[in-house]
Amino acid sequence: MARPDTDLPARGIIPELEFSTKAPAQADVLLVGVFAGAEDEIELPDHGLLGRSELREVCEGLAAVGAQTDPGSITRIPAPAKSGVEAVVAVGLGDPEELDDETIRRATGTAARALNKDKSVVTAINTLGLAATVEGLILGGYDYRGLRSADDTTDVTITLIGERGDKDEFVTAQIIAEAVVFTRDLVNTPSSHLYPEAYANVLAAEAKRHGVKAEVLDDAALNDQGFGGILAVGGGSARTPRLVRLQWSGKKKAPQVGLVGKGITFDTGGISLKPPAKMENMISDMGGSAAMAAVVFAAARLKLPVNVTATLPLAENMPSGTAIRPGDVITHYGGTTSEVLNTDAEGRLVLADALARASEDNPDYLVDTATLTGAQMVSLGSRTAGVMGTDELRDTLAETGAAVGENAWAMPLLEEHDEQLKSPVADIRNHTNSRNGGMLFAARYLREFVADDTEWAHIDIAGPSYNTEGVYGYTVKRATGVPVRTLVSWLRTLA
Ligand code: BES
Ligand code: ZN
Ligand code: ZN
Repeated sequence: MARPDTDLPARGIIPELEFSTKAPAQADVLLVGVFAGAEDEIELPDHGLLGRSELREVCEGLAAVGAQTDPGSITRIPAPAKSGVEAVVAVGLGDPEELDDETIRRATGTAARALNKDKSVVTAINTLGLAATVEGLILGGYDYRGLRSADDTTDVTITLIGERGDKDEFVTAQIIAEAVVFTRDLVNTPSSHLYPEAYANVLAAEAKRHGVKAEVLDDAALNDQGFGGILAVGGGSARTPRLVRLQWSGKKKAPQVGLVGKGITFDTGGISLKPPAKMENMISDMGGSAAMAAVVFAAARLKLPVNVTATLPLAENMPSGTAIRPGDVITHYGGTTSEVLNTDAEGRLVLADALARASEDNPDYLVDTATLTGAQMVSLGSRTAGVMGTDELRDTLAETGAAVGENAWAMPLLEEHDEQLKSPVADIRNHTNSRNGGMLFAARYLREFVADDTEWAHIDIAGPSYNTEGVYGYTVKRATGVPVRTLVSWLRTLA
């Protein structure tokens, strides 16, 4: 049988960024940042791309049309004659005293969408924060068009003007933003095209490109090795499950990091079937695995001196004559047994196998991320991930998330869940009848599969990984690519 494609059916479109020490002679648009000055005046910093009189002319032009300076507001005016550009686009950056990276990311993210019909753009806004500008422009300008046939897009090139010594920071930021983009592409791909086998092939092909070691276990191998959780969850689907392992060895004797990500390519709920409303959003139930794969590839591209191994269980949760039933007992990798009381609590069942496998490598740190519970959104809303685990790593990752603009909040494991985890017929059960603290119960379940002395964190990204609400800043609709930047940022601190 022919192998399903090793590439995705479609990728998102992003602006092409270039870094230069010299402004091009001509461009369609000059992008500038504007601050709120005293007495409602517009403050336009001089980045050296305009002459003195032209700078004044732009400032007066912006004032004349009532340009706003609050963060992310956009104003377009004709450029002064002989400036080498046709138009000036000003993006508000707010109070100059309060400028931070997140403001720059959000403002440049909004600007990127306002520039999606301009072929060539030049800017020096990056002198206010280079990495933040690169991330904002790429992530805010990202547009996933899937399999739409009309080709009505413009190839946009944005040239950032900076100093020679800043080129490394530019390249690093680009790699990190591209890791987020890769995650978004995977998550946005419908399940018709991204099912476990196809997904595994895409990851293996990508691994090859980046010098990452890849291993794929198919259903026969999973059966041989006793991955009962993955097989049970994937058993209802005609598309068989996989376990993918991706390994980047950056440096001997450096920290060993285990990463685990939920890879449910579609979650119908199984026999505990979900209601039909918005079920299509469950194409995103593999967002945790996509993020972890992208983190390994980013570590390789950045040549980070750490050792990272991702263990990614991929399965499609379907109801059928071969699906698991409520009341079934399954045996996980490593031997722990679970009573399955709700087949829609399937993420924890596949993560259990993967965490047990990852723990065998004795990692110094073990981090998992998953679109695990609706309860995450009940407790923290749709933009803030819940972080649970051992105290130190949990707090570090929650703080790192906040620092990079991927909101995350430390949450507790509860004593009362020890009792609720008990089953009359198995070691543990995957569900309780209490709706209270659902995110925390899921985390408590996962803890059973992590070795006692391992530093571990679990990040529930049910809400933050997939934006079904509105566009804001550099967060577009559908896949967001959370928490890739948090994890890459954390790995860089270990290196
Ligand atoms: N994939 C869902 C969680 C989810 C819900 C993610 C909404 C993103 C948006 C997960 O597998 C699930 O169905 N969880 C159940 C668990 C329950 C049965 C204990 C839930 O949260 O309702
Ligand atoms: Zn589910
Ligand atoms: Zn799920």
